[in-house]
Order: sequence, then C-alpha cells, then structure tokens
Amino acid sequence: MILLLGGTSEGRDLAARLAKAGLPAVASLAGATRAPAPLGLETRSGGFGGEAGFRHYLAARGISAIVDATHPFAARITARSARIAQDLWLPYLLLLRPSWVPEPDDDWHMMADEAAIAGLIPSGSTVFLATGRQTLGAFTGLSGCRLICRQIDPPDGPFPFPNGKYLLGRPPFSVEDEVALFKRLGIDWLVVKNAGGAASATKLVAARVLDIPVAMIERPTPPECATVATVEEAMEWIQKTCRN
Ligand SMILES: NC(=O)c1ccc[n+]([C@@H]2O[C@H](COP(=O)([O-])OP(=O)(O)OC[C@H]3O[C@@H](n4cnc5c(N)ncnc54)[C@H](OP(=O)(O)O)[C@@H]3O)[C@@H](O)[C@H]2O)c1
Repeated sequence: MILLLGGTSEGRDLAARLAKAGLPAVASLAGATRAPAPLGLETRSGGFGGEAGFRHYLAARGISAIVDATHPFAARITARSARIAQDLWLPYLLLLRPSWVPEPDDDWHMMADEAAIAGLIPSGSTVFLATGRQTLGAFTGLSGCRLICRQIDPPDGPFPFPNGKYLLGRPPFSVEDEVALFKRLGIDWLVVKNAGGAASATKLVAARVLDIPVAMIERPTPPECATVATVEEAMEWIQKTCRN
C-alpha cells in the first residue's frame, strides 16, 4: 500500500494517476482546507498525531512506500516522513516542483523568512500577502503598511492587525484577474513564498506587467532523499519501486 502525502495540485494529479493505474494507495491530507474536492482515491484527513501516530499508521496500514507530494513549505511533515522512512527502510520519494526564478525585468527581493520583510518594504505601502494565513503573525513589522491577505476559506476570526484585511479567493487566478485585482487594490508590493508551479505563477506575471516589486520568501532546505520534479517522474518511480 502506497501512502501519498498530499495538499498540492501535484498530489491531486498523482492521486488521479494512481487511481487510474489501479495501484493500491491511500492519500493523506492535513485537513487545512475545509472542503477539498475528492481525490478519487481512498483519502484520510488530519494529522497523524505526531511521530508516534505516524509510525503507528504506517504499520497498521501496511504502508510499503511513501510518496510525499506536500507543499515545498510544509517542511515539518517532509523532514519527519523522510527520516522515519529511512529508519524503517521504506522507499520514500519527494515530489518537489521547481522553484520560480526571476526574469530579467523582475524586481524580486529574496528573503529568508517573513520577519526579514519588515526591513524591506517602506511604510505607507499597500502590500498583497499571498503567503496564507498560517504565517500572518510574522508580519507585525509591517504596521505602517496596508496589508491584504488572500485566502481560500472564510476566516475564523478578525484580521490579526488593525492595518489589514482578508480577501477571499479560490485559485486558479488568470494573469488578467491578478492584474485587475492589483490595480483595483493599488498594490505597491507583493509578498510570495517561492512555492513554484505554473498555476500560481500568474500573480508574478501580473507583478511584472505592473512593475510591482516582489518580496520572495525562499524555501526551506529539503531533506536529502530521492526527489523528482513532476507527476510523470513520480509515476515512473512508483511503477519501478512497487514492482520490485
Ligand atoms: N505550508 C504551506 O505554505 C502550504 C501551502 C499549501 C498547502 N499546504 C499543505 O497543507 C498541509 C499542511 O502544511 P503545513 O505547512 O502546516 O505542514 P507542516 O508544518 O510540515 O506539518 C505540520 C503537521 O501537519 C500535519 N500534516 C501535514 N501534512 C499532512 C498530510 N499531508 N497528511 C496528514 N497530516 C499532515 C502533521 O501533523 P501530525 O504531526 O499530527 O502528523 C504535521 O506534523 C500540507 O499537506 C501541505 O501540503 C501547505
């Protein structure tokens, strides 16, 4: 039984490929999105209950290989899964889409983390935070700016700072949508995590079109493990690994 750790569009595509190939697999979602679309594969939802819970789940379900298609910034689940797989001699594959790289006309500022951005963005700016609500608390240093944070689900509570607001939106967004939105909101700065992927790169194209500078938060370092960049390559690894 293959365990597919999901939470990305690649995870979704891979689930469909596994189902189509009739391979025995179970997908796992963290449960952060309230009503995710069905994956077409047996799916469990929610954390495993820490390391002990994860080890128990692997044994109880007879997991024989793990394919980690979690988000490039989901560093804890990836580090732990890679380490435990190695410990248990379980085949483990990380599906990690390539990082975004700037084009010559882009004005990108590579940042180590959210907190570092406070020293970059001038007070009085209108800032679009495409970084999700989880890390919103790290933007306390932007108290002199107007903040707009986009998220998929309606918020559980008020915006954590008086100088900001949530904006609801469910991807994908076209370049035209993003250009129109940034113009309407009067955005001066875009803050993005270097997630990679074509679907969510449209905001970067919009920033290029409108000459908006981008604060690009760099990825956590992935573990040293078998890694592929595409769903196609992941399927090849699975076919090879699960045949042996
Ligand atoms: N971080 C992002 O920017 C981002 C963006 C888009 C989507 N996501 C997706 O959202 C999920 C959570 O991200 P995160 O950054 O909070 O992760 P994280 O910090 O690496 O992991 C935190 C905890 O969430 C649980 N978890 C994470 N992924 C899981 C999965 N696929 N199935 C079951 N449990 C999971 C685990 O809980 P236990 O210890 O209880 O097992 C893990 O210890 C991931 O699946 C990721 O793919 C994250």
